[in-house]
Amino acid sequence: DVAPMDKRYEDSFTIGAAVEPYQLEGEEAEILKHHYNSIVAENVMKPINIQPEEGKFNFTEADKIVKFAKENNMDLRFHTLIWHSQVPEWFFLDKDGKPMVDETDPKKREKNKKLLLKRVEKHVKTIVQRYKDDIDSWDVVNEVIDDNPQNEKGLRESPWYLITGTDFIKVAFETARKYDKDAKLYINDYNTEVEPKRTHLYNLVKELLEQGVPIDGVGHQSHIQLGWPSIQETEDAINLFASLGLDNQITELDVSLYGWPPAPAYPTYEDIPDEVFQTQAERYDALFELYEKLDDKISNVTFWGIADNHTWLDDRAEQYNNGIGKDAPFVFDIHYNVKPAYHAIMD
Ligand code: XIL
Repeated sequence: DVAPMDKRYEDSFTIGAAVEPYQLEGEEAEILKHHYNSIVAENVMKPINIQPEEGKFNFTEADKIVKFAKENNMDLRFHTLIWHSQVPEWFFLDKDGKPMVDETDPKKREKNKKLLLKRVEKHVKTIVQRYKDDIDSWDVVNEVIDDNPQNEKGLRESPWYLITGTDFIKVAFETARKYDKDAKLYINDYNTEVEPKRTHLYNLVKELLEQGVPIDGVGHQSHIQLGWPSIQETEDAINLFASLGLDNQITELDVSLYGWPPAPAYPTYEDIPDEVFQTQAERYDALFELYEKLDDKISNVTFWGIADNHTWLDDRAEQYNNGIGKDAPFVFDIHYNVKPAYHAIMD
C-alpha cells in the first residue's frame, strides 16, 4: 500500500533495479513490479556468463530477465557488452594459448589485435542480434577510464586496451549500432563526478564522437557515499556530458554508509543507528532533487539492487572488517519495508 516510486518520477525518468534471476519470484518480484519500471541484470549478462568459452553462448539466465521485463512491461538495460572484469581469459589468448599481452613481436601483435577485435565483433553481434527488440539501453563498454591520476591519458590499461588501443571501444559501439539501428548506446563508469576521471572520460568521449563513433550517452554508476561526491560535482558532470549532446543515466546507484575503506562498519543491520538512516535520507533527498532538476538530461535512474538484504557492498564491508560488517545502501530495508530514504525521495 505504499506509493510506487516509478509513478512518482514518471514525468522525469524511469526507475530501475539490478536483479539476479532468483529475485524474479516471491516478495522481491512484487517490489519490482510495484516500484520499478526498468531492470538490469546484476551479473548474468556479463561476458563471463554469456560467452564463458569461445563460441559457446549461454543465454539461459539472461533470458529469464528478458522474459520478466517483457511480461511486466518494464524497460531493460543491458549490462555489459565489454568489461575488463568478469570476462573469460580466452578472449585474450592467441591461437596457441599464449597471453596476447605478453607478445613482443610487432607482426604477431598486429595479428593478435585483429583476432581480438574479431572476437569483440562476434560477441557484440551475437548478443545484439538476439536482444535488439528487448533492450532499451546498452552498456557497450564499462569502466575503460583509469583511476590513477598519474595516468595522463586516463585510459585503463586492461588487456582490451593493451592489445587494441581504443579500437575495442570503436568496434564495440559500431557493431552494436550496425545490428541495432535504434539502439541507445552508453559508455558506463564509476566516479564520473570526480577529477581527473571526469575530464579523462570527457576527453575520450569527445574524441570518439568526433571520429563518428555512435555513443548516445554516459552511464554514471554512482556508487556513492553519504558525503561524497558533492551534489555540485554530480550536477557539473551531468551538465558536462549533456553539453556534448549526450543523454545521461544513473546506472548503479547505491549510497553506502561507509567511507573508503569501509572501516569500521556496523557488524549487523540492527547495529545501525536511526540517525544514520536519517542522514542517508537527506542524501537521497538532495540527489533526487538534483536528478529531477536535470530531468531533461537524465533518462533513467537505476539502483544497484532492490533492498538492503542483498547488496554487493556487504562484501566490502566484510572484507575490511575481519568478516563482519553490513551495509544498507537502498531505500528499502532488509525486510522490504520503506526506509526514511524512501520518504525523502517520494515527498
Ligand atoms: C558487481 C555485482 O554486484 C557483484 O554481484 C559481482 O560479484 C561483481 O560485480 N560496477 C559494475 C557492476 O559495473 O557490474 C558491479 O557489479 C559493481 C561495480
